[in-house]
Amino acid sequence: MISRCFSHLVNHLTTTRLALLLAHLFLLYYLFKGNSEQTMSSQKFIELNSGQKMPAVGLGTWQATDEAELENALEEALKAGYRHIDTAYLYTNEAIIGRVLERWLSSGKIQRNDLFITSKLPGIGMTPERVEYFLKKSLADLKLDYVDLYLVHSPMGYQYVSDTELTPMKDGQLLLDNKTDLEAIWKALEVQVDAGLTKSIGVSNYNIAQLERMVKMARIPPANLQVELHAYFQQKPLQEACKRLNVKLCAYAPLGSPGRKALFEKRGLKFEELGLLQDPVVIELATKHNKTASQILLRFLVQQDVIVIPKSTNPSRLRQNLEIFDFQLSSEDMSTLQNLDKGLEGRSFTAKAFKGVTEHPEYPFNSY
Ligand SMILES: NC(=O)c1ccc[n+]([C@@H]2O[C@H](COP(=O)([O-])OP(=O)(O)OC[C@H]3O[C@@H](n4cnc5c(N)ncnc54)[C@H](OP(=O)(O)O)[C@@H]3O)[C@@H](O)[C@H]2O)c1
Repeated sequence: MISRCFSHLVNHLTTTRLALLLAHLFLLYYLFKGNSEQTMSSQKFIELNSGQKMPAVGLGTWQATDEAELENALEEALKAGYRHIDTAYLYTNEAIIGRVLERWLSSGKIQRNDLFITSKLPGIGMTPERVEYFLKKSLADLKLDYVDLYLVHSPMGYQYVSDTELTPMKDGQLLLDNKTDLEAIWKALEVQVDAGLTKSIGVSNYNIAQLERMVKMARIPPANLQVELHAYFQQKPLQEACKRLNVKLCAYAPLGSPGRKALFEKRGLKFEELGLLQDPVVIELATKHNKTASQILLRFLVQQDVIVIPKSTNPSRLRQNLEIFDFQLSSEDMSTLQNLDKGLEGRSFTAKAFKGVTEHPEYPFNSY
């Protein structure tokens, strides 16, 4: 009887210890899992119809042409966790980006398939014969065998004068190519996918009707549409169309592109800042969430599955722009921001600084 009680007690103690041990193991597992999820949630991926996963936050690089400044920004961006970089032949910075990418790839700090690199076909390359030529020029500068996404930069072709005259002018007018054939150009883009020079293809600055035309005739449908999109210009009809057509949206100027003021003034033109980062509604939400105005504006778009490519060459601001995955906007916050939409009035990229541009048969900015 005594020995039975004793063995029962020993069994009980062993079971208790075992239970304690298991509880500890579970605790450790959840702590570790918690940390790894935190790391994972420092980025969100949007799956394209090509099967590729596009990081929802990328680094914009328009107007970043100062070599030292951009190199430093890219180093800081890659360290902070950016893997998606948006560039274009038009930005004349692909060689700088290529140098930094080569350093990171050759040192083994990153693998090619961790990166998502977007480039774009310039206006002067808008004929089927020039598509491969300009894509290969971008690849040579980027020191890559392929880009992840190649976009038609704008539906308006310009006359080709030379590789370096990016916006050829005569008598103060942009030399437009009024015979731009968007369907033929799309077919030439599809050939680049077949050749392995780009994983996905898409368009930029196309309106709904132009996008529908591409989807209708495509053998390889557009995977992405990059347009101006921010709280003042939410492009709701275009967002609906993209859902219906299974094309993911990427927002350029997600912060309202305040850097344009300096650019316009340099060209002797006036530019009215949008003031999106100073909007009292945005500031109020920033205070509420203990975040910055920029983080609120970016989170607002990403929470709707829109990809964003804020440009910054400032290390602290570019880090800030990526730190939007540790908070959520409530549905009330979302509708407050949705109310900032100004409809078509909110469009600020019209290309109208180029005289005569609205005469192009494919001028896209009169409608959504
Ligand atoms: N497909 C197209 O036709 C097209 C057209 C325009 C743009 N894009 C692409 O979209 C990208 C983004 O658009 P964008 O550059 O026009 O405008 P944006 O990203 O809305 O704004 C960039 C400007 O905001 C400043 N900024 C960045 N982060 C900030 C922050 N956290 N707080 C305060 N200011 C901040 C930047 O200055 P600092 O650098 O000094 O931080 C820069 O002046 C471009 O770089 C380009 O890659 C495409």
